[in-house]
Amino acid sequence: MIPPSPPSPSRGEGEGGGDANLVITFVLASKEDEMTKEIEQIAQWITTSKKVVVFSGAGLSTESGIPDFRSPGGVWDRYNPEDFYFQNFLASEASREKYWQMATEMYEPMKRAQPNLAHLAIAEMERFGKLDCVITQNIDGLHFKAGNSEERVIQLHGTAMYVSCLSCGKRYDRDEIQERLQKGVKAPCCDECSGPLKPATISFGQSMPERETEEAYHRSSLSDLFIVIGSSLVVQPAASMPLVAKRNGAKLVIINRDPTPYDNMADIVIHGQAGPIMAGVLERVREELGMK
Ligand code: APR
Repeated sequence: MIPPSPPSPSRGEGEGGGDANLVITFVLASKEDEMTKEIEQIAQWITTSKKVVVFSGAGLSTESGIPDFRSPGGVWDRYNPEDFYFQNFLASEASREKYWQMATEMYEPMKRAQPNLAHLAIAEMERFGKLDCVITQNIDGLHFKAGNSEERVIQLHGTAMYVSCLSCGKRYDRDEIQERLQKGVKAPCCDECSGPLKPATISFGQSMPERETEEAYHRSSLSDLFIVIGSSLVVQPAASMPLVAKRNGAKLVIINRDPTPYDNMADIVIHGQAGPIMAGVLERVREELGMK
C-alpha cells in the first residue's frame, strides 16, 4: 500500500509543486487500484478455468538472483549472442571454450538460487489442481525446486542442470563437469568417445526438442487461460505459444516488467514484479477456493 504523501505543509509556498505531488499520488493510487482489480480478475479466472497454462521466461527468476537475457545488465548485455550460435560451438575449440566460459558464469547464480514468490505461487497452483502445465524457457530448474512435478513442467530450452555428449549422448552431472573446468579444462570432452560436451540447453540455431515442442503447442492450443510471466516474447518458436493459445480461445494474461510485442492482444497486462504480483494472485485464489 503506497501511503498517500501527507499534504506538504508548504502548500502556500510551492503551489505548483503541491498540486503535482497530489496528481502523482492520485495516479499511483489509481494504478494501485487498477492492479488490485487485475490481480483479483486473474485469481477469479484461475479458479474458474479448466486448463491453466503458465508460460515462464528468465524474468521469473531475476528475483532469485539470476540475471535475465535482454534487460540492462542481462546476459546479452555482457555477451554477444551471435558468438554462441550452435554452429559456432560445433565449428571450433575456441568457440567451445568461449561458450563454456559464459555458461560457467551463468551456472554459478543458478546453482545457488532458490525459488521466489512467483515460483512458489505456480507450485501452489499445481497443489490446488489449478495448473495444467508450465511451459518454461528457463534452464535453471527452479520450478522443480519450488515443488512442481516433472510431468507438469515442459522445458522448451532444455536444462543447465546436466551435460550431454553431442556425439554419443552420454550424460554427465553438471557439477562434475564444472569441477573439471575449475581444474583448468577449457572445453570438456566425453570420457567414452572424446566428443564435445555441452550443457543440455538449446542454443540459438540448435533444433528444438521435438517431444517438448509438440507438447507445448498442444497444451497451448487446449488451454483456456494462458499466463505469461517474465518473458520478452521475442524468441521463436517459444514466443508463438501465447498466440496459439489466444487463437484457440484462451484468455491471455501477461505479467512482465517491460512491454512485450503481444501486450495489445492480451486480456490483462501487468507491468510489474512477478513475485509480489503472483503472491497477491495466489492469496485471492486461496480465498476463492476457501483454502485460507
Ligand atoms: N518480474 C517480471 N518481469 C521481469 C522481472 C521480474 N522480476 N525481471 C525481468 N523481467 C522481464 C524483463 O522486463 C524482460 O522483458 O522479463 C523479461 C525477460 O526477457 P528475456 O531476458 O528476453 O528472457 P526470455 O524471454 O526468457 O528469453 C527467451 O532467449 O536468450 C534466449 O534461450 C534464452 O530462453 C531464453 C530466450
